[in-house]
Amino acid sequence: AQVTQAEFVKSSVRTEDCPSDGLPEFALVGRSNVGKSSLLNSLVRRKKLALTSKKPGKTQCINHFRINESWYLVDLPGYGYAAAPQELRGDWDKFTKDYFLNRSTLVSVFLLVDASIPVKKIDLEYASWLGQNQIPMTLIFTKCDKRKKKKNGGKRPEENVSDFQELIRGFFQTAPPWIMTSSVTNQGRDEILLHMAQLRNY
Ligand code: GTP
Ligand code: MG
Repeated sequence: AQVTQAEFVKSSVRTEDCPSDGLPEFALVGRSNVGKSSLLNSLVRRKKLALTSKKPGKTQCINHFRINESWYLVDLPGYGYAAAPQELRGDWDKFTKDYFLNRSTLVSVFLLVDASIPVKKIDLEYASWLGQNQIPMTLIFTKCDKRKKKKNGGKRPEENVSDFQELIRGFFQTAPPWIMTSSVTNQGRDEILLHMAQLRNY
């Protein structure tokens, strides 16, 4: 399930403008700054294929990356806080949700949640929206390398992860699959790639 080839294909802001070759794809979504672009780079073992930043709001389009000539990883703008005007963020929210609802080649959405901080309401709301719309989802917990800190609620990543799972239980008929990751240590990388391979070969 390893990545041997990865290339940026295009940026789109409308579902209709996304690639039309019919290859299956997986989208990375989550709060701004949660680590979507970093995770993509970790999966493809390249430092700067997707652009990352300390400042939330870096990714602003639907970005398609073709992997091994046969499937796509899709990097999306984050929701929630972003160093971008409210109006622009409203647009991101509209076109990403349109993409989730209408992109027929989308195999599964990977919802990224920061495991180094306490559960955030906006992530619960997003999970709820995906559940209500019956969009297939995998939960990816990011930043699991970070140690617990008092100012971040004083809980270990494992504790934040189980809190989150407890709180979303009612949103899904069956609990979504979940993987703990770090783009610093590459924890979870092989597990994600294997999971994506299994989903593609349905
Ligand atoms: P937007 O494009 O703004 O929505 O953000 P994003 O979700 O793509 O986040 P990005 O990958 O740009 O990472 C944001 C910040 O978090 C950067 O400073 C990364 O270095 C850091 N970061 C990402 N993943 C990890 C991780 O697993 N561990 C740690 N410690 N830091 C991480
Ligand atoms: Mg990004």
